[in-house]
Amino acid sequence: MQSNNLIFSYDMSKQFTAIAHPNIALIKYWGKRDSKLNLPAVGSISITLRDLFTKTSVEFDDQLTQDEMTLAGKLPDASDIKRVTEFLDLVRAQAKTTTFAHVISETNFPAQAGLASSASGFAALALASTRAAGLKLSKNELSILARRGSGSAARSLYGGFVEMKRGNTDDGIHDIAVQIHDEHYWPLDILVLITSEEKKSISSRDGMNLTRDTSPYYSAWVSSIDQDLRDMRNALAQKDFETVGEISEFNCLKMHSLIFSARPGIIYWNETTLALIQKIRELRSNGLSVFFTVDAGPQVKAICLPNHADRIERGLRTIPGIKKIIKTKLGPGAYLEHKNTALCPPAI
Ligand code: PMV
Repeated sequence: MQSNNLIFSYDMSKQFTAIAHPNIALIKYWGKRDSKLNLPAVGSISITLRDLFTKTSVEFDDQLTQDEMTLAGKLPDASDIKRVTEFLDLVRAQAKTTTFAHVISETNFPAQAGLASSASGFAALALASTRAAGLKLSKNELSILARRGSGSAARSLYGGFVEMKRGNTDDGIHDIAVQIHDEHYWPLDILVLITSEEKKSISSRDGMNLTRDTSPYYSAWVSSIDQDLRDMRNALAQKDFETVGEISEFNCLKMHSLIFSARPGIIYWNETTLALIQKIRELRSNGLSVFFTVDAGPQVKAICLPNHADRIERGLRTIPGIKKIIKTKLGPGAYLEHKNTALCPPAI
């Protein structure tokens, strides 16, 4: 172990545990301008969810001859091992160590099914692994690192309403997440409607590459997002629920139209996804304040004003095919468990 190279004087044999919550995008990240550094082609805006989480413990151990990991209570498959090991290599390079690590990670929701488990997973891994390696990164540095694991992971470092910036330089130092409003700014209810617990057929990463390479609509998507971001920032600043919902649904359907138009087209939805979207629109036309969004999977998220949430939930329960409903609110950014302090805010 090369403890003389450590930036901080933590004991590297110590286990660090971090908790991070997934986020759902109101303005979607879809497309990479650089696959190696995982630089987004577009900015995005998300909300962090309170009641879903990933909890990850990391301990570096110089007795190990490779990284050892348990993810979601199971031994991971080869592609997960590769992804986590490559991420830990980035941490090792920064900490100037070659020591391998034990990683134990669990989530309280279905992983890899379009519920942003990679967002909470890599946010928690970034925080726990850097601390365990003796690094104490700034918020921006942590955001840049988390992004290498998963583009949306940078957003899960923060609570509330979060924007992921699309930078303009090749090194990615400006492709960072920033908090727009914290989780107390606007109490909204979110119903996460789980319609399938299966792993999705194609990962976001592969889906993005296929879309960029084959969809005739890709450049129109990329060039239209700055306007959506501006409109969404303004609507959030005014707490204008109707406009936030209108922009969010527009952006969501635009992303899925883009994804449908890849070759071969990718369909993340199932019949319950579509039935729920239609039901949400029907409930809204009956005077209830609700809008939907769907990420790269079949799950639907209904965002509601709290005084309407119970009636919206009763209406949605009439749709067959829902496996589970999780009712939640906006939640905090990633934090270290043993210190029980929020990471962002306050400062790391
Ligand atoms: O962070 P990734 O690579 O899992 O991609 C996330 C893609 C979407 O969930 C569809 C959109 C988003 O902004 O979260």
